[in-house]
Formats: sequence, structure tokens, C-alpha cells
Amino acid sequence: MEWKRKDLIGLEELESKEIEIILNVADSFKDVSSRSVKKVPALRGKTVVNLFFEPSTRTRTSFELAAKRLSADVLSFDVSSSSVSKGETIVDTAKNIEAMKVDCFIVRHSISGAPLIISKNVSCSVINAGDGCHEHPTQALLDLFTVKEKFGKIKGIRISIIGDILHSRVARSNIWGFKKLKADVTVCGPPPLIPKEIEKIGVKITFNIDSAIENSDIVYLLRLQKERQKENFLPSLKEYSFLYGIDEERYEKIKSKVFIMHPGPMNRGIEIKSEVAEKNNSLILQQVTNGIAIRMAVLYLTIGRKI
Ligand code: CP
Repeated sequence: MEWKRKDLIGLEELESKEIEIILNVADSFKDVSSRSVKKVPALRGKTVVNLFFEPSTRTRTSFELAAKRLSADVLSFDVSSSSVSKGETIVDTAKNIEAMKVDCFIVRHSISGAPLIISKNVSCSVINAGDGCHEHPTQALLDLFTVKEKFGKIKGIRISIIGDILHSRVARSNIWGFKKLKADVTVCGPPPLIPKEIEKIGVKITFNIDSAIENSDIVYLLRLQKERQKENFLPSLKEYSFLYGIDEERYEKIKSKVFIMHPGPMNRGIEIKSEVAEKNNSLILQQVTNGIAIRMAVLYLTIGRKI
């Protein structure tokens, strides 16, 4: 099977084979970042535009580094000083930048569906860097890559995703990705933050973190997104942390058999205690490292092979 897509909007629409293509291409790019000269000419002459309408550290930086390591030119669009602040729409903004002959937009937006809308209005590639509560496909791809690197496989691995599943684009993309590659996925969190329909796609639900982690190879902690809690779903952060966070006591019970992942940014002291984030079982910085190889692969597949 060959990669044929112009865009990457979500993992829901990808076939498992397409996910495997991305993971394999990422594997071939991984060592570029360890060389003394961290550059290959695969995207020479291409222009990649970062269109970030929401804050980001990891995704924005690693897309920029990935593009530069493939020798592309990168433009990081500054929304606050652009005509967006005068009311220009995202589609007009994208069409005007495309008129300057760019090859790819990397889009992050607080509205679910914004990258899809842009992709329907431009002919260059669009990659979703996180849209509202919808998807964050490259985060899930780097998570899949990290699990495969650690365990040598994804099929049969037991992963528990803990936290606010309802509002999490990271959870949604990871659920699609891990299910498609036949992992055993459980979600755990406060009942109002777990959508019941999720069981229909074969995901298990538990509200008890101790039972979730007891039966896991990976505990994937989500950031508690205070900015997306529009209703009072949680009694208090202290209670959330007590019921669903990993502290030293919980860590001691699982340290010999479970790895901890988190997409970042971490709320230290809420979903994860600082001491736990630094332990040997934490794959958190390995996830960040792998983000470069995954984003190199996605850029290469979507724009690298066009003449
Ligand atoms: N994981 C993630 O998307 O982090 P940033 O918001 O820093 O990009």
C-alpha cells in the first residue's frame, strides 16, 4: 500500500496500514536527529507554514525542527500580529498565504474542524496539529511510535488512558490509533468526563484508577484541561488529583511493570506528582524526542514526493 493523502486531519479516517507506513518512515528518519549534521535534503525547495491559533511548545517546535531537518523553508505565522486580529477569516488567511506558493500548512486551532475546513479550501497539504476536542493525530502517532520502540509491538499492549476523555483530542486520536493497531485500550476518569459511546468502538471503561493501572502495561495520563472545563464537571482539583492522579504511593505499586506517558504540558501536582514524572518508568521525554521523527515522516509523505 502507498501513501496517497494530501492531508492528515485525523487517525479516525486512516487505515491501519497507513498508520504503519507513517511509523515505518519515522523509523527511517529517527537517526537523522542523532547525527552531527542533522539534515537531509528530502524537502529542499518546499515551504512549510506553521499556522498556530492556540499556544504550543512541543508540537510547534517539533514541526519546525522536523521541516528544517528535511531542508524545507519554514514560516511561523504570528497570529497576534496578523490580519486575523482585524477579523480576517481562517480560510481567507490560508488562501492568501497559499497564493504565495507554499506547500503545507500545519494548523492548530481551538475549533474542532478548522484544519478540515482549511484543507477543503486550499490545494496544498494541511496537517492537523490539534483542533479543539477533535483530534491531535501527530501526538498519537508519536505515542504509538514510542510504545512500539519500547515493547517491539503494539498489538496486545494494554494501555489505560486516564483523565478528561470527553475534552481530549489527544485521547481521541490515541484511542483510534491504538485500537486500529489492536492494542487493548481502557479509559478511566470521572464519570462526567467519560463519553459512554466510547464502548461501541471496543474501549473498556473504568472509574477506578487502581484497577486500571493494575491491568496495564502503559498508563497514559492526560493533562487536565482547565481551559476546556466549561461546566463544573469536577468537585475540586484536589479531589481529582487524589482519585485520578499518580502520586508516590500509586507509583510504588506499579513501578516494576508499568510505563508512564503524558502528552505534555504536565500539570505537576494534579495528574502527576513531580517526583513521578522524573522516574525511570516515565517515557515522557522519549515521546517528545520521537515527535521529530513522526513529524518528519508526515511531512515527507504528504509533500515530499510531489514533483
Ligand atoms: N502535546 C502537545 O500538543 O503539546 P503542546 O501544546 O506544547 O504542543
